[in-house]
Amino acid sequence: MNYNHSAPFIEMHDVTYFYPGAEKPALDKVNFIPDKGKVGLIGPNGSGKTTLFHIIMGLLKPDNGQLLFKGQPLAHEKDFRQLRREVGLLFQDADDQLFSPTVLEDVAFGPLNLGISPAMARKAACQTLAKLGLSDLVERITHQLSGGEKKLVSLATILVMEPKLLLLDEPTNNLDSSTRMKLIEILAGLKLSCIIISHDWDFLAATTAEIYAMENGLLIRSGKSSLHNHFHVHSHGGYPHEHGG
Ligand SMILES: Nc1ncnc2c1ncn2[C@@H]1O[C@H](COP(=O)(O)OP(=O)(O)OP(=O)(O)O)[C@@H](O)[C@H]1O
Ligand SMILES: [Mg+2]
Repeated sequence: MNYNHSAPFIEMHDVTYFYPGAEKPALDKVNFIPDKGKVGLIGPNGSGKTTLFHIIMGLLKPDNGQLLFKGQPLAHEKDFRQLRREVGLLFQDADDQLFSPTVLEDVAFGPLNLGISPAMARKAACQTLAKLGLSDLVERITHQLSGGEKKLVSLATILVMEPKLLLLDEPTNNLDSSTRMKLIEILAGLKLSCIIISHDWDFLAATTAEIYAMENGLLIRSGKSSLHNHFHVHSHGGYPHEHGG
């Protein structure tokens, strides 16, 4: 595949997606070329944010429109396999991410799957957990972790793969305020592009340079400085929004 390394990493052109049997599209002609660096994605429940991530990863296939990865159309499963080597998705629900008996096995799973030796995979897993301040969890039984611990271990399973782009779906869910602060620091220290879905406006303000908003399957780019957040009668009231004119 002739990837164009100066092209945007991901491009979505007029992407429409209907869940089977749905009358309304979950994504409605979405055009999305995220800036390099860290960008946020905010919007009400059910507006299509998670669907957008699942389309990027190839977990769902658009009904219409086109998806490009480094300038090349994503058409076949092998194109998505390449994309998944470079793009890491933190699922909204950590239980969708973690499936091994222990934390170490979960974090070593990805590297092992790439054919790295068990000793090297174990080393990479321990190093990644240490970087996230999670060394104490290495030998823990995954399903006995708290919700916040699961979120951070999920992040470790992705970072150990050294992705070029991170998709984080509500990373602050279940995090207490000190763990949330820790995540802000971790993200600030990561020199890679991220798209972060969150309802936590302050978290997005602290971690991202640009914010996009979704509503009813439509995506708009909203300059961070022009967005504001207050409560009043129209439907955007509780979410950062702009007024026309
Ligand atoms: N598997 C599914 N089958 C049918 N409809 C679905 C499915 N998953 C999501 N939807 C619907 O698609 C729309 C978009 O859902 P999506 O999960 O992308 O929203 P979201 O913006 O991530 O919401 P939240 O903030 O609650 O996570 C919603 O109306 C939802 O009910
Ligand atoms: Mg969601």
